[in-house]
Amino acid sequence: MIKIAPSILASDFSKLGDEIKKVERAGADWLHIDVMDGHFVPNITIGPPVVRSLRWVTGMVFDVHLMIENPEDFIERFIDAGADIITVHAECCIDLKTAIHSIKQRGKRASAAINPDTPLSTIDSVLEDLDMVLLMTVNPGFGGQAYMESVTDKIRELKKITRERKLKLDIEVDGGIDLTNIGRVTEAGANIIVAGTTIFNAVNTAEIIKELREKAYDGSNSL
Ligand code: DX5
Ligand code: ZN
Repeated sequence: MIKIAPSILASDFSKLGDEIKKVERAGADWLHIDVMDGHFVPNITIGPPVVRSLRWVTGMVFDVHLMIENPEDFIERFIDAGADIITVHAECCIDLKTAIHSIKQRGKRASAAINPDTPLSTIDSVLEDLDMVLLMTVNPGFGGQAYMESVTDKIRELKKITRERKLKLDIEVDGGIDLTNIGRVTEAGANIIVAGTTIFNAVNTAEIIKELREKAYDGSNSL
């Protein structure tokens, strides 16, 4: 089964709690929380205090995507605030192994992200330690961008590696996912689907989540 993770970046921040309840009721699986610092990416979003407040609103799994420099310095704070999954970017994490270890030591799921132009080899040595890999399918920083077709082969390659090395690894895709490409990314091997604009701009949230599930490739996610 694939999992759908709406990205709150595309929601109306003036009524964040309601927006989250809306996607929860509509059958979303995880909540994708994009944290940006204005350094690693040219945008600023939210920090631990907001995550802490949202923890009171929902029991959904908090999938926290850290697009920040020195992510190691903030892992503890986001876990204390209620994160269930923490993703750090390989491009800005000085010691990826230690960061992953500190996430897992707190009993949380550890994930590493790579940008569209970053090769899989960057995370090869930590694949055995990870619970999930997040493959960016746009350059991080903003919602509403177009899916970068060049990443499809990378998804396929990572799926092949997980099979060969018998890794129990979720493959998450993030950026530009919609009804036209969810079939392709899931067929290639992705099983966690982040979607911001597609979900929050839809008139009927339950309907769009159902349609995304229907268009996803069946059987791509047998770990
Ligand atoms: C981009 C973020 C994504 C993005 C997804 O930097 O990591 O989560 O907001 O939004 P859409 O689905 O609109 O591309
Ligand atoms: Zn994200």
